[in-house]
Amino acid sequence: MHNMSRRSFLKGSSLLAGMGAISLVGCGGGATPAADGGSAQAAPDAAGTIMLVNEGKLTCISNMYFPPFEFMDEKTGEPKGFDIDLSRELAKHMGLEANWTKESNMGFDTLVPTISAVDYSDGTAKGKADIAIAGMTITDKRKQEVDMSDPYLDSNQSLVLRKDSEETLESLNAEGKKIAVQDGTTGEEWARENLPVADASKGIVKLDDIINAMNGLNSTTYDAVITDLPVAKYQIETEKNYADLKVAEGIPTGEQYGIAVSKSNPALLAAINKALKEMVEDGTMKQLQITWFGSEV
Ligand code: ARG
Repeated sequence: MHNMSRRSFLKGSSLLAGMGAISLVGCGGGATPAADGGSAQAAPDAAGTIMLVNEGKLTCISNMYFPPFEFMDEKTGEPKGFDIDLSRELAKHMGLEANWTKESNMGFDTLVPTISAVDYSDGTAKGKADIAIAGMTITDKRKQEVDMSDPYLDSNQSLVLRKDSEETLESLNAEGKKIAVQDGTTGEEWARENLPVADASKGIVKLDDIINAMNGLNSTTYDAVITDLPVAKYQIETEKNYADLKVAEGIPTGEQYGIAVSKSNPALLAAINKALKEMVEDGTMKQLQITWFGSEV
């Protein structure tokens, strides 16, 4: 299908490194915790080594317009979703409590800078949050600014169209086409790299969230949306929120989601990787997938 585009997208991404890591998490074998600069040897939860912005709490940030990973409950205004549950279980496995507040919801493109801005210079954590958990793909670019945990879920991109549309990835790469993406995401990156003609004519429209993108596609403002496949499927096929939209095709990018942690807090990263591994082994991860996807994914 789109092998060329896929390959060029993967170039420079951490696919190989990531795959090695998931087999470690995924098969639950007796491997030692993922090595990260040698810090994995240190007892990850030894007292005083994990610095947290709020004591006893794992304070999280995300971008809450990404169902079923993170979104707001319409009635209560509380965050919910796969990643929210994952954060709560993760915290529990670390002897902490997940901390989500009104300030936890931010623009997706500000998550990585916010985590890397936390100040650990005097041995305590001063800043907004300990981790960003946001269906965030592990990429080399992000790994320059923050550490990423071992992968916890595989994902791909997708092309979303109106049901009556006959557009294809080829036909969309033309002047005058409008393709909506979420700002700062791998979907945006894929679209820019693989739809260069549309991009050159300002046809790749960056929006704050993917719900706006789908609404705009529905009302014919845009010709297509490129977003993570599990999100498109959930909104259109599971929840049936858009009767007139379809997931036209999956785009195999081989992405993997990880949790962003400051580079200055290696003990926290090691503890998170250890907890993730335990959650695979004790069935918590499987249960979360069944809850939010109806089956293991
Ligand atoms: N997986 C994509 C990325 O990492 C999209 C993530 C968007 N997440 C969100 N919570 N809005 O770029």
